[in-house]
Amino acid sequence: MDWKELEEQCRECMACQLGETRTNLVFGTGSRTADIMLVGEGPGEQEDLQGEPFVGRAGQLLDDMLKIIRLDRGENVYIANIVKCRPPGNRDPLSDEQSACVGWLREQFKLVRPKIVVCLGRIAAGVIIKPDFKITREHGQWFEKNGVWFTAIYHPSALLRDPGKRPETFVDLKSIQRKAVELGARI
Ligand code: SF4
Ligand code: URA
Repeated sequence: MDWKELEEQCRECMACQLGETRTNLVFGTGSRTADIMLVGEGPGEQEDLQGEPFVGRAGQLLDDMLKIIRLDRGENVYIANIVKCRPPGNRDPLSDEQSACVGWLREQFKLVRPKIVVCLGRIAAGVIIKPDFKITREHGQWFEKNGVWFTAIYHPSALLRDPGKRPETFVDLKSIQRKAVELGARI
């Protein structure tokens, strides 16, 4: 499947109930040839309205964080979510919604072929790294699968709620930067 086909098919998806209440499907954004891919949880209100991931308050913080390690969605990262349609009231996506949707993300992985995947928050880490991922204990740790390196950092919404977590996230960002240099990933 190429990007055009994938996006067209995804935009018509009604494989779970989130399809019924979306305003816009939020497919993904950024560089489709990036070496680093970021995965969030699901669209919030602003994302649902604008059809782009991380454009609300959490997104502004994410962009500021990425800038610290010279990453920019217009340049060198691809950003997508576990679920492409907004869970009503910003509740967590249910596990059947996650499993209904994750196939789209897998296709995105196959096309981007990132060297590094950064999960944003517990939900993404639980789907992508391992089911019992403990974000407070395991953020910033590295996991390798088939030559691709995976890590998780706190979700930017968690950092808005609890700024006390920001120093640890700064350390994690620096670790991502080092890993990128080590792997020769474009940053
Ligand atoms: Fe399809 Fe995913 Fe939207 Fe559910 S959330 S309707 S699986 S695109
Ligand atoms: N939170 C997410 O996980 N994803 C978005 O796109 C926006 C907020």
